[in-house]
Amino acid sequence: SGSSKGAALVAAVAQRLTSLRRQTLSLFRLKEEQLQLVKARMRSGLDAGLRSKSSSTIKMLPSFVYLTPDGTERGKYLALDLGGTNFRALLVRFKKQTSRLYHKIYTIPLEIMQGTGEELFDHLAQCVCDFLDYMGLKNTRLPAGFTFSFPCEQSAIDTGTLVAWTKGFKATDSEGHDVVSMLREAIKRRNDIDLDIVALINDTVGTMMSCAHEDQRCEIGMIAGTGTNLCYMEELKNIEKIEQRMCINTEWGGLGDDGCLDDIITLYDTEVDQNSINQGKQRFEKMTSGMYLGEVVRQVLLDLTRRGLLFKGHVSETLKTPGIFETKYLSQIESDRLALLQVRSILQQLGLHGTCHDSIIVKHVCLVVSRRAAQLCGAGMAAVVDKIRENRGLDHLDIAVGVDGSLYKLHPHFSQVLKETVRVMAPQCDVTFQPSEEGSGKGAALIAAVARRKRDV
Ligand code: GLC
Repeated sequence: SGSSKGAALVAAVAQRLTSLRRQTLSLFRLKEEQLQLVKARMRSGLDAGLRSKSSSTIKMLPSFVYLTPDGTERGKYLALDLGGTNFRALLVRFKKQTSRLYHKIYTIPLEIMQGTGEELFDHLAQCVCDFLDYMGLKNTRLPAGFTFSFPCEQSAIDTGTLVAWTKGFKATDSEGHDVVSMLREAIKRRNDIDLDIVALINDTVGTMMSCAHEDQRCEIGMIAGTGTNLCYMEELKNIEKIEQRMCINTEWGGLGDDGCLDDIITLYDTEVDQNSINQGKQRFEKMTSGMYLGEVVRQVLLDLTRRGLLFKGHVSETLKTPGIFETKYLSQIESDRLALLQVRSILQQLGLHGTCHDSIIVKHVCLVVSRRAAQLCGAGMAAVVDKIRENRGLDHLDIAVGVDGSLYKLHPHFSQVLKETVRVMAPQCDVTFQPSEEGSGKGAALIAAVARRKRDV
């Protein structure tokens, strides 16, 4: 009859739509062989970067941090932390085994992030001044650790030139310059405060140090937040005589910048890259970190909608707006505790009006995109821990990772998928993840303490 033929037709169309959507989503599902390839490529990137920095997409930057803390650190330190969208000033006080911490957060306006280097550093100096004033410490000269979470080529613990901005920063006249001098000069220009900047630190290194304060096994630091990166203790065997290991800031977000990930990169990833301010750079980071995951999701939704597979084919202005899907929304949408109606209402708040079925699809897209991110980080981590294990000639390695970042801490599945992937892909390693508390701030203070101790010797 007519109606059953109609029903069959509707069913056939629905099935076809579902299978088209499935095809799209399957682009993000990585097979174990693919993850093994990513692990192998990460490994050769790490090795190539150690041999020669210029020819590798993974920079492997020496941090000049040799020691992990030994618990004897004492005193008051300032930690300055520029990493993502804000700048934090912290006062850290070590007393016996404990530390106390006061801090203030300052936002960095977009026009300053993308203005001149001098303006950016003047702004930072202004924030430091405000903080010292607030803490009643304007007339003291505190030792400070400067956490600057961008790739820096360091030649000592307290100097480093910025290799390239990442994560949406684009201040001019900074790349190729020593960022510690830039901060010192900005402070000098003000002429109302004084600082003794003793260490320049990447956030991964700060995170590792801060966790090592509690757990001596911690020899890796990882950030899965706005950006993604990892550092670990590497052997110096033939390079230095006294110290055995130095922490290397891998800048692993650059994996793929030579095209080695092209077989898994989707057209959506390419779109996100094309729309970014550092095209062709940080390809791994753009598939795995908070600043970009929402954009990957948005590109998929746009495509599904344009092909009539979502939102009744209606491409809204909202959907065309870059940046609408912040990590926090991904986290909410993917939360197991939310009912579908709640997902739908989050989407509505964002200006995306659709049916419950649309909400299911959106949630699915979020799930595959963030799952792939966690798996890629897991494959990278597997490469690192296996390298450390081989470095030390061990059959089995027991190691801890200090980890920080919004994606790791706030996303409902990321950390679990990450751990599971590492377990499967590095079966000879036991990897414990330790979320760090105020990692890069406390770590910066610890490094400042260690750096000062060495200077005193
Ligand atoms: C970016 C930066 C790197 C930093 C990471 C996490 O990848 O280049 O230095 O550690 O973001 O903040």
